Amino acid sequence: MILNRNKSVGIIGTGSFVPEKVLTNHDLEKIVDTSDEWIKTRTGIVERRILDDDKATSYMATVAAERAIDDAGIKNEDIDMIIVSTVTPDMAFPSTACIVQDKLGCTNAAAFDLEAACSGFLYALSIAYAYVNSGLYKNVLVIGAETLSRIIDWADRNTCVLFGDGAGAAIVSTVPEGMGFLGINLGADGSGGKYLTQPAGGSKCPATHDTVDKRLHYIKMEGNEVFKFAVRAMEEAAKKVIEMSGLKLEDIDYLVPHQANIRIIESARKRLKLAKDKVYINLNKYGNMSSASIPVALDEAIKAGKIKNGDNILLVGFGGGLTWGSCIIKWHKNQEV
Ligand code: ACO
Repeated sequence: MILNRNKSVGIIGTGSFVPEKVLTNHDLEKIVDTSDEWIKTRTGIVERRILDDDKATSYMATVAAERAIDDAGIKNEDIDMIIVSTVTPDMAFPSTACIVQDKLGCTNAAAFDLEAACSGFLYALSIAYAYVNSGLYKNVLVIGAETLSRIIDWADRNTCVLFGDGAGAAIVSTVPEGMGFLGINLGADGSGGKYLTQPAGGSKCPATHDTVDKRLHYIKMEGNEVFKFAVRAMEEAAKKVIEMSGLKLEDIDYLVPHQANIRIIESARKRLKLAKDKVYINLNKYGNMSSASIPVALDEAIKAGKIKNGDNILLVGFGGGLTWGSCIIKWHKNQEV
């Protein structure tokens, strides 16, 4: 995608939320046949957050959104559209975005959910970009929110150690000339969809006693296949968007990658020739939060002062589908142009 820039469009506010409850690797040692050592060395994950039983994805999405709206210095009624990226909506319908719209009182906003697994936040950003760039909408609220703990098979050590719950949000709007999104690149390869699935619960395999007995409502993953794809997709998606943006590798000031596995991130970092302190990592604290990983990491990196106005930041991710996405933002967080 070569950006047709009618306007300069960027992110004017971010927010995030993770639940208080911590589940450590040592806690998992008591549930499945695993070890803190194995999880740390094979993934980099030390602990993850788990949402309280009486709450759902919309709760975390709403808190993250409130923080992003506050950070942007706008009002709830200024939001024109809400996109929630999630594979763990509160329910099939109404959409989680509509639930969030009601909770926030964003009465002027259209609202819908988007599903592109861990790439979903990047897909949603691209839609927000297109709406603002076209002039149809001014402020789009983009949220990545996941309660993966509800679709994890806590008896499957291959997957249960990897994931966690959380939400991140961003407000996409106009920014000063020359700032904001420089390039966006999305892709998909449906032939690899079989490597990462939640087989039951949809129209192909509706819920029955049998699907529950066979544990078909949980995440199934062929980790090695996803790993190989991820290493390739991260590098290719990053390099492609750098080229599209008219930049070179050395022009990238900061990388905010999807947080699935430290070995995948390290491989991408080395191939992109970035110093370790130019990459934000929080998977040690949260595990893989699917479409919430990038927005939570982005919010934390900004609040930690890692990203400054004028920096070229690269967001890159991959996920189920299979899907991938990347974008470059010349960072400028302002409120009104
Ligand atoms: N504890 C201890 N041993 C384990 C565990 C565990 N939690 N999980 C697997 N093992 C064992 C396996 O059974 C296997 O044993 P075996 O050799 O006796 O059969 C051994 O460890 C090695 O297993 P591998 O799968 O080869 O381990 P690998 O180094 O590939 O790491 C992992 C597995 C971490 C899942 C890795 O493949 C990975 O990160 N893949 C990518 C996953 C990913 O990114 N998924 C998210 C996609 S995004 C989305 O849309 C949700």
